[in-house]
Amino acid sequence: MPRLAVLGHPVGHSRSPAMQNAALAELGLGEEWSYEAIDAAPDAFEARVRRMADEGFVGANVTIPHKGAALALADESSEIAGKVGAANTLVFERGSIRADNTDAGGLLRALPGSPRGRRALVLGAGGAARAAIWGLAQAGAAVYVWNRTPARADATYAEIAAHIELGGAAEESPRQEDYGIVVNTTSVGLHGEDPFAHLPLSPAKFADQVVVDMVYGKEPSALLNAAERGGAHTVDGLEVLVQQGALSLEIWTGCEAPIEVMRAAARA
Ligand code: ATR
Repeated sequence: MPRLAVLGHPVGHSRSPAMQNAALAELGLGEEWSYEAIDAAPDAFEARVRRMADEGFVGANVTIPHKGAALALADESSEIAGKVGAANTLVFERGSIRADNTDAGGLLRALPGSPRGRRALVLGAGGAARAAIWGLAQAGAAVYVWNRTPARADATYAEIAAHIELGGAAEESPRQEDYGIVVNTTSVGLHGEDPFAHLPLSPAKFADQVVVDMVYGKEPSALLNAAERGGAHTVDGLEVLVQQGALSLEIWTGCEAPIEVMRAAARA
C-alpha cells in the first residue's frame, strides 16, 4: 500500500490531504494509495523522514518550515530544487531519497498564459520568492525583485542571476504600472495586514496585469480584491497549491493529475 504525506509544522490547516486523496480516488488509486498529514517539529524532521521508506511511504510533500532541510538530507536533487535551495517534494525509491521542487512549476501552471517576454515583479526574497524568480526566469520573463529589506533583494537577485538570465534588477521603488505580472511571496496579509501599507503597490494603480498572491485564506485577500477591481487577472495561493500538488502527484504516480477534482477538494 503506497503511502504519501505532507510534512510541516504546523500542518493541521493543510489542504493537501483533502486535495491529494480526492485525486487518488479519481485516478482509481484510492483503495491502495493514501495521503496523510504529519506534524514534525524541526528537531525531529530528519529522523522522521528517514523512517518513512520503511513505513511504506513512496513520497512526501514538505512545507514550512522544512523545505531547506528536505533538500539538505536528500541523496539526489533535481536541478530546480538545488538551484532554488529548497525542496517541496520527496521521492523514496530503492533506499534513496530524491528531492524535487514543484513550487516554481506550480506557479507557472497557475498563470493564465506564458510569462515569456513580460516584466515580472516578485515581492519578497525568501524561499517562496526564490522559487517564483527561478520559475519566471526559466519561462522567459524579465524578473525584478523588491523586498522590505533591500539588501536581501540585492543578495537574492545577484545569487540567482549568477546562474540564469534574469533580465531585470533588484528594485527599491518599483512602478507598479511597469509590470505585466506581480507576485506577492511575502507573508503580508496572512495576519490581516493592509497590503498597501507594507508593499510597494497602490490599489488605484492596477490595470490588466496578472497579480498572484501566495497568501490565501477563506476569503480572497485584500490585495487580490483590489487587483480585481482594477481590472487585473488574479491568481490566489490556493491555485498555486493545487498546481504544485498536481505536479508532485504526477512525479509519484506517473498519472496525469485530475486538476478539476483537486481544485474542488482544495477549495471545499
Ligand atoms: P518564505 O521562505 O516563506 O518566503 P521568509 O524567508 O520568512 O519566508 O520570507 C518572508 C518574506 O516576507 C520576506 O521577504 C520578508 O521581508 P524581509 O526580508 O524584509 O523580512 C517579507 N515580509 C514579512 N513581513 C513583512 C512586512 N510586514 N512587510 C513587508 N515584507 C514582509
